Amino acid sequence: MELTPETVVLITGASSGIGAAAARRFAQEGVRLAIAARRRESLEAIAADAQRLGSTVLVVPTDVTDPEQARRLVQTTLEHFGQIDVLINNAGRGNLASVEGTTPEQLWSIFAVNAFSLWYVAAPALPHMKARRQGHIIVIASVAGKWGYPYCSAYVAAKHAAVGFVAALRTELLETGVEATVLCPAAVDTEWGLVTEGGPLGVLFQEGIRHSKEIARSREIPLAPLPKVLSAEAVAEQLVELVRHPDRADVFTHPGTAELAILVAQDRRAFEGKMMPFYLGVRQAYEDWRAHVGKDSSVL
Ligand SMILES: NC(=O)c1ccc[n+]([C@@H]2O[C@H](COP(=O)([O-])OP(=O)(O)OC[C@H]3O[C@@H](n4cnc5c(N)ncnc54)[C@H](OP(=O)(O)O)[C@@H]3O)[C@@H](O)[C@H]2O)c1
Repeated sequence: MELTPETVVLITGASSGIGAAAARRFAQEGVRLAIAARRRESLEAIAADAQRLGSTVLVVPTDVTDPEQARRLVQTTLEHFGQIDVLINNAGRGNLASVEGTTPEQLWSIFAVNAFSLWYVAAPALPHMKARRQGHIIVIASVAGKWGYPYCSAYVAAKHAAVGFVAALRTELLETGVEATVLCPAAVDTEWGLVTEGGPLGVLFQEGIRHSKEIARSREIPLAPLPKVLSAEAVAEQLVELVRHPDRADVFTHPGTAELAILVAQDRRAFEGKMMPFYLGVRQAYEDWRAHVGKDSSVL
């Protein structure tokens, strides 16, 4: 799709991280923007940046886990701009808990923001896009939607659901003129790892990486192939590219991750062998954390 001053891009989770960087990057293209998240003040600061860059911006504070608020977000955008060309479902949140420690409340809340919200936001936009025979729905999933990570099973399962959502949606969109694609980032430098429910998963993973180096050294095996952390701006750049060229179905933002997704599908043992130092390192970090919970909350 060509980006013009008429193009309308709606971004959820635009108050920080990838969503905020995407809002700024699309603003540079001069498109019209609708940005949503729960934090109004952060959205207004991003909107001011985007306006300075030449964009017209609509701020719609929204909790996307509420179907009524999600419907209102789409309706307000359509009333204001008259069209939605690109819908970027980016809002998301992780969790920290073992499978047996995951509470029903955490399961619901993590699935609500990473998976259920996709239906809540996309469904009211679809009749409009199909009627115009134009539109592109992008879901920001994760490599956690392609393979597993320990101590965040609700997040991993919800991101697999997000990948499944796009796969199914695409079959309903054949020959309608509307595109659906999924972006699967690995680690991105945002506040994501610090705001996970149940504890800071990013800190647990950092500790896990530290332990993984000792594990690899003592077992004389290579380190796990973890891709380099990307900036939110680098991911935003790939989003603009994806809108312009929507031919790739599942977009892996980080070098080496598409190959890992193929490996896990073809040879589970080889994949686990490569990732083992990291997985065991995170287990050690989790056990250290559990041993200290309630005694020294600064451990993580
Ligand atoms: N950072 C990574 O390493 C990484 C890797 C792979 C995938 N991802 C995915 O990338 C997406 C963006 O994450 P990020 O890294 O940019 O993290 P982030 O900075 O924490 O951004 C998350 C965004 O989601 C919004 N959000 C959370 N709950 C919401 C709700 N109920 N309703 C509306 N908005 C909500 C937050 O805004 P409010 O709090 O203001 O609502 C925020 O704008 C997420 O889907 C994440 O899972 C991130």
